[in-house]
This record gives sequence, C-alpha cells and structure tokens, in this order.
Amino acid sequence: MPTSTPVSPEATHAEFLDRARQFTASETWDLDRRFPLVLDRGEGAAVWDAAGRRYIDFTACSGAAPLGAGHKPVLDRIVAELARSGGVLPGPLSTLRVELAERLAALFPVAERSVFFRTGSCATTAAVRLARVHTGATTVLTSGYHGWHDWHLQDRAPMGIPGRDPQTHDFRYDLDLLDELATAHGPLAAVIVTPEVNFFPEEYARALEATVRRHGALLIIDEVMTGLRYAPGGYHTAAGITPDLITLSKGLANGTALSAVCGRAEVMEAVEHTYLGNTYQRETTPFAAALATLDEFADGTPFTRMHDVGAELIRGLNEAFAGHSVTAEAFSHPTMFDVLFVDGDLGRVFFQEMWSRGVLMQYGGRFMPSAATRDEDVAAAIAAADVSLGVALEERGKAADGDVLTAAIRFADERFVTTPATVTRWFPGFDRA
Ligand SMILES: Cc1ncc(COP(=O)(O)O)c(C=O)c1O
Repeated sequence: MPTSTPVSPEATHAEFLDRARQFTASETWDLDRRFPLVLDRGEGAAVWDAAGRRYIDFTACSGAAPLGAGHKPVLDRIVAELARSGGVLPGPLSTLRVELAERLAALFPVAERSVFFRTGSCATTAAVRLARVHTGATTVLTSGYHGWHDWHLQDRAPMGIPGRDPQTHDFRYDLDLLDELATAHGPLAAVIVTPEVNFFPEEYARALEATVRRHGALLIIDEVMTGLRYAPGGYHTAAGITPDLITLSKGLANGTALSAVCGRAEVMEAVEHTYLGNTYQRETTPFAAALATLDEFADGTPFTRMHDVGAELIRGLNEAFAGHSVTAEAFSHPTMFDVLFVDGDLGRVFFQEMWSRGVLMQYGGRFMPSAATRDEDVAAAIAAADVSLGVALEERGKAADGDVLTAAIRFADERFVTTPATVTRWFPGFDRA
C-alpha cells in the first residue's frame, strides 16, 4: 500500500518561506519588520497562513479593512459592480466616482472637491503638489509618516536615498521648530501632518493650526489612518480644526485600494494647472466598495464596535501588565491604540510570544481592531497576554527599569520622528479616559 509522508504545518510553511526568499520576500521588510509569515486568506478578524494556521488580526489588515476582511455587503457590491460595469472604463469620470465625491463632501465638510488614487502615498504626494501649485511656494514642512515616496523621508531611518529633498523639512511635531524652519525657509506652501493621536492631544492640533496660519501656509492633515477610524468626520472634525486639504485611504473602500485628496474648492482648483493622471482611477470597483463601506459606517455601528473591542483589549492588556508588575501600558484611543513598554526589548519578546499563540500584534505597531472582531477573540488575546508575559519574563529575566517619559520619547522618535521637547510638552501620559 502506498504511503504518503505526512507533511506538518511547520514544514508546509517553511517550504513557502523558502520559495518566498528565492522569488519575492525581503528579509527586512516582509520577514523582520512584519510577521514572519506567509499569509493565505482572511475572513473577518481572522487570518490563515500558508499552513492553514489561524491567527487573530488586531491591525484590521494594517487599517485597510475596518469592517473585517471579506465583509459581505462590500464583497457583494464589488462582485456586482464587476459584472455590471466590467470593472474598468476608458475614461476617468464615472458615475460612481461622482457619487463617492458627493458622499465625501457630505461626510467631511472640508471635502468640497475630491480626486482619487489607489494608495495613501500617492494621495499625500498629490496633496503636496496641489499646495505648491496653488501657492506658488515650494517649501513644505512635515511631521509623521506619509508613505514611501521620497519627498519626506530624509529624517527617518536611512532609506538609501542619496542626498535630500532641499524643499521639505521635518519639524518633528515640534511647534517651536516649525516656527524656526518657517522663518528660515519660508514662504511655505504647506504644512502636512499625520495626527499621532495617542501622543499629541486634540489641543495640540489646534495649536498647530494657529502656528501654520500665522505663517500663511496651507494646512494638510494626513488622515490616511485616522479618517475612517478616529471618529465620524475624521480627526480634524473631532479636533475642531479646518485644514485646507485632507488625505484619506485606509478603510475607505474596506479592503480595496483607494485613496483620495479632498479639500477646499479654491485649493483643489490647482488640479487644472498640473497633472495627476493615473490609469487605474478608471476602475469602478473601488468606488463601489467605498460606497458600500460608507453605507455600513452610516449608522455608526462599526465605530462603536471598534471602540468597544479596543477598550476591552486595552483593559485586559493593562491588567496583564499590572499582574506581572511590568511597567507597560496600552493607551489611549481605543480604535487605534499603542502599547509602550519601558523595557522595549521585553515588549518585543512579549509580542513574539503573542504571535506564536495566534495573536497578530507587533511591538511598535499600531493596534487597530476591526469591527468584525469577536468577543471570544478578544478574550483569547487577553488570556494569551497573561501567558506570553510570563514566558517573556522568564526568557528575559526581570524587566529593565526606566521612566515612562524617557521611554515615550524614544518610542515616539523611533516611530514617527519627534523632538524630546515636544513629547515632554504634549504627551498626556496614559490617559485612560
Ligand atoms: C498616515 C499615513 N499616510 C500615508 C500612508 C501611506 O499609505 P500607503 O501605504 O497606502 O501608500 C500611510 C500608511 O501607513 C499612513 O499611515
């Protein structure tokens, strides 16, 4: 009788990893900075690897799928739209694009006009171009991550780019530095900032807006992460500020690639004097997905669910940290919280342990639960946290001492480039409200 050699999940996965290394993967980007996994499929908040092992995803696919992977009403709309329209049209102006732009105008008061792309990087680059064309000025001041494009990366970890863009300066979320740079390098076209909501409170956003206006610059708020996650109407609405332009992407078309630059009609008119063409703006399925996603968000239920899941995770993680007398904290905004360990190395080991127990979380990553997360998944993650921390402590010995502010300064600088002074001035601590 022929016998087949049983293949273990580990062996299946290892074989995929070998093939990945040979033909596609980067050790640094795919396997080190992220989870060392070859993933296969997702459903709701669950995801399976190449060997069929199940994990709980607490990143909502890096924010791309706030309703969960394969959310049925969105999926159905995509499939119907493919069949109805063919999926792509010869010209960029489609009925669904018009409908979506109208919907965004109703949702975000600043969005008098919208233009569309596929990625967040394209949207932020386009917003900067529009600001330069509108103002005729070239200097741009920036803080935070806006994607992989060259113009703003020079103050981050080495990117291998020779030289630097002389017209873009990172003010590292420091309003005094913003003042200095504006004086030294003005006139400014724009200041573009990604809200780091757990480190810089809404009051900071209002102080930022006042400083930017004092220098006569346009204000661009990069809402790629926050627009569909922080609150209905986006971060700028909640913070009570009025940017000239905003960028949106993550979650806009639940799981489908779509991004937008939206803003004041007068500024968006710069589109007439430049070129922002892109072939796949002719695709109609992302617009259909976005309309279905916004329908799902309309009654606020997904926001409430993401908030409740995040709040329970924060509570459970903090209980585990306190139970093991480890100075670490999950904080503060439930739909997009951070986890900070005073002993960062312990944090890294802790999350590796979580991952090996089927919980996709990463130290230094943003926690963005999807609305599809089930109560039992949250309970399982909290139970895994207790065990993982015990194992991590055994492996590392006692947690290294240190103070929270020093750890926060290091964490913020590594994650999104800050000055110690601005974190000291604005970091609200672990506000559990
Ligand atoms: C605030 C912000 N802006 C821009 C981007 C870039 O978006 P993408 O990765 O789709 O190019 C990201 C992605 O993480 C982001 O978080």
